[in-house]
Amino acid sequence: MREWVSRIIYARDWPARALDRWGGVRVEVIQHRIAVPRPGRPPLRIGFVSDLHVGPLTPTRLLEAAFERLAEQAPDVLVLGGDYVFLEATAAKADLIARLVARVAVATKIAVLGNHDLWTDHALIEAALERGGARVLVNRALRLPAPHDDVALVGLDDPWTGAPDADRAFAEAADAAVRIAVVHAPEGYPFVRDRGAALMLCGHTHGGQIAAPGGPIVVHGHLGRRWPAGLYDIDGLPLFVSRGIGAVEIPLRLYAPPDVAIFTVL
Ligand SMILES: [Fe+2]
Repeated sequence: MREWVSRIIYARDWPARALDRWGGVRVEVIQHRIAVPRPGRPPLRIGFVSDLHVGPLTPTRLLEAAFERLAEQAPDVLVLGGDYVFLEATAAKADLIARLVARVAVATKIAVLGNHDLWTDHALIEAALERGGARVLVNRALRLPAPHDDVALVGLDDPWTGAPDADRAFAEAADAAVRIAVVHAPEGYPFVRDRGAALMLCGHTHGGQIAAPGGPIVVHGHLGRRWPAGLYDIDGLPLFVSRGIGAVEIPLRLYAPPDVAIFTVL
């Protein structure tokens, strides 16, 4: 659907406001453990959320519930997987993004950008993420503080609409024993493969958003279709695809409930 059509059909954010009033706000908390040799280090808990899609189709209460679930889990690190908006970035959307990210009181937060961010004024979104305490990683890496300073988070640009530069990003993590790659979509996998990553986190697919009981019906991209949601082992690389929180195009999710994930890296 063309964006101008969405803007007219969903004028004044009526679906989000209706869902805020009558819709459910259940967010699944997915837990996984990743075993990596980390001698003498305490377990690292990473909270991951993707595809907020702040806009006319995503109820604020649902977003607040997702970040509430993450705050309850008290992870060591918060990772944000991109696509913060649906349709154009505005000051009001940016304020909500900043408020949600600030809600999870952890010392280290990082964010990557998605296609919906790069289609709009992403400087506004990046500033909001930073106001919320997150560092935006576009082809950059961030070494975690002690006692998790053996770990680097590697953030790549969006593989659909950006310019992933894995050489640059992974070079900044070269002396880290454990590298965790974050990229908006499963299409980022070719940039992460063979780089010694212990885990790859992504979103973008929404698990199909409108799915059948047996699985998604339509997912964009051939890697998204292969890995639509959940944890996969790709030649020894654990690859996790979040269903995300918000919606695009249609104010509905079917058999693709919102999720946040907690990864414990042992
Ligand atoms: Fe996306």
